[in-house]
Amino acid sequence: MLKSHSCGELNKEHVGAQITLAGWVDRRRDHGGLIFIDLRDREGIVQVVFNPGISKPCHEIASEMRSEYVVRISGEVALRPPGTENPKLATGDIEVIAHNTDIINPSKTPPFYINEDIEVDENLRLQYRYLDIRRARMKENLLLRYRVVKFIRDFLDAKGFIEVETPMLIKSTPEGARDYLVPSRLHPGKFYALPQSPQQLKQLLMVAGVEKYFQIARCFRDEDLRADRQPEFTQLDLEMSFIEEEDILSLLEELFTSMVETVKPEMRLIKPFPRLTYTQTMERYGTDKPDLRFGLEIGDLSDITAQSDFSVFRSAIAGGGKVKGICAPGCATYTRHQLDELNKIVKVLGATGLTTIALGTSVGSLDDLTVEMLRSVAAKFLTLDQIKEMAGRLGAKMGDLLLIMAGKSELVDMALDELRREIGYRLKLADPKMLAFAFIWDYPLLEMNEKTERWEPMHHLFTAPKDEDVPFLDTAPERVRGKHYDMVCNGYEIAGGSIRIHTSHLQRKIFRLLGYTDEEVDERFGHLLEAFDYGAPIHGGVAPGIDRIVMLLAGEENIREVIAFPKTQSAVDLTFNAPSSVTEEQLIELHLRLRDD
Ligand code: AMO
Repeated sequence: MLKSHSCGELNKEHVGAQITLAGWVDRRRDHGGLIFIDLRDREGIVQVVFNPGISKPCHEIASEMRSEYVVRISGEVALRPPGTENPKLATGDIEVIAHNTDIINPSKTPPFYINEDIEVDENLRLQYRYLDIRRARMKENLLLRYRVVKFIRDFLDAKGFIEVETPMLIKSTPEGARDYLVPSRLHPGKFYALPQSPQQLKQLLMVAGVEKYFQIARCFRDEDLRADRQPEFTQLDLEMSFIEEEDILSLLEELFTSMVETVKPEMRLIKPFPRLTYTQTMERYGTDKPDLRFGLEIGDLSDITAQSDFSVFRSAIAGGGKVKGICAPGCATYTRHQLDELNKIVKVLGATGLTTIALGTSVGSLDDLTVEMLRSVAAKFLTLDQIKEMAGRLGAKMGDLLLIMAGKSELVDMALDELRREIGYRLKLADPKMLAFAFIWDYPLLEMNEKTERWEPMHHLFTAPKDEDVPFLDTAPERVRGKHYDMVCNGYEIAGGSIRIHTSHLQRKIFRLLGYTDEEVDERFGHLLEAFDYGAPIHGGVAPGIDRIVMLLAGEENIREVIAFPKTQSAVDLTFNAPSSVTEEQLIELHLRLRDD
């Protein structure tokens, strides 16, 4: 090794030791006679002193050093003179007196500060990701990611799982997104697909008798990107044989509880993880990925408002819709501007508007509420009793603001989910030190795509229906629940999984229900169906998204912050500038011609 120690590991115990360090110049201060360099490597920072009285040539070289130069320094560890200790630095009690040094490589002035945690344009950060990763934030996030993955591997190893790699060049495994395709040179006109997940491969591993499989698996999905979506991302992909839903849920709960307690002990959990059925979560939060760090539950006000004189409410219900609301505690004093902001949120989602009722600004019991205290355009169409009943259902008190949506059920739920998150955020109700994991289950197996008028799987094609609901497959598919579960945390979907279909007979039936012809099924899924005929065990699994987990553990709001080389929102890799054009020869080799239109 060209160095004897890491910068960050040095402390009082090393005083008197002769050492050699190598790293980057974090900061340089020239105090006339003495030059101080903060030397940085992955483990931390240490102060190095260049004293011309100790080595003049060394001091001269140090005067050439600038930020981000790569340098090597040999010297002696010494206690800092009393009063000059730096308690903010782990190595702040000591310094290194340089006897020898050389500049390994100079550096241009970086496009942004490496040594300061200031906002930098993200595109610039991504273009110079190798500099960005030198900064403390990214370095800590990558370290955390490594610890999480290491924890997972150790945990599952101790439970008897084995990690099996599966191929990247496969046939399309539909998971609801578009495939990334790879043209074949050897088979003109044919394409591989990059896996959207190793779903079918892990099921084949169960048929193969692996019993307990996992993989830290890269997945590829060509879909519209959001803060928690990347075109390539990483899953902890997991599958087990001879299990029921409960086995997966308790395994996940143990894994995530012990992981958080080990890698982020300062974070708090709700234990045991709450479990909500799909119906419960939709009723209470309007979403299947609720943020359970705070209440503000949705209340259905349809029965109270159905007979009211407020036509917005009445016509919504008459048209088969709903009137639902939430309470924003203490927000009765919201200004017109603040109310407009809330209105904008729902309008973006396609709603015509939001009804707000401010319940007076005073404190006190709802019994004391009078018409004069109300502030709402709807107030004159509603009786005081109706308003009190609505307020009571939403758990409101004086001084609170009711946010009420009327319209199609899905839109109302979506809008109230957004509003609930917004109010929770504004009122700082979401404890940043809490990870509110929960399981959602009892999902419907299928949902109707209104556009295509075809059934689609709520999770994916391979999820088994609940045994007691199988008869409804023929008579009332909407009533069939799937053996599907999601794990959510703080408003994000963290994991999805299910018990799978394990007979070719039932799998074919589901394919037919989804509108596939027998020819399509044989062409696309023949390999899986055939495997099921060679003794497939009962099996099931789950796939937590590693990027999302690490994002939450790191307290970040975008998964790009926990990925070394992520793509931008428009799927561009700015470090390599990919995607990029290829040569005509490459296209010819792949039997491809680009279209002009
Ligand atoms: P699913 O499609 O629900 O299930 O994905 C599982 C988890 O993967 C993560 N995830 C993503 N993370 C970042 N960017 C994306 N584009 C992205 N898409 C998904 C989420 C999600 O909860 N094969 C099944 C799993 C199974 O049934 O075992 C599957 O992939 O955290």
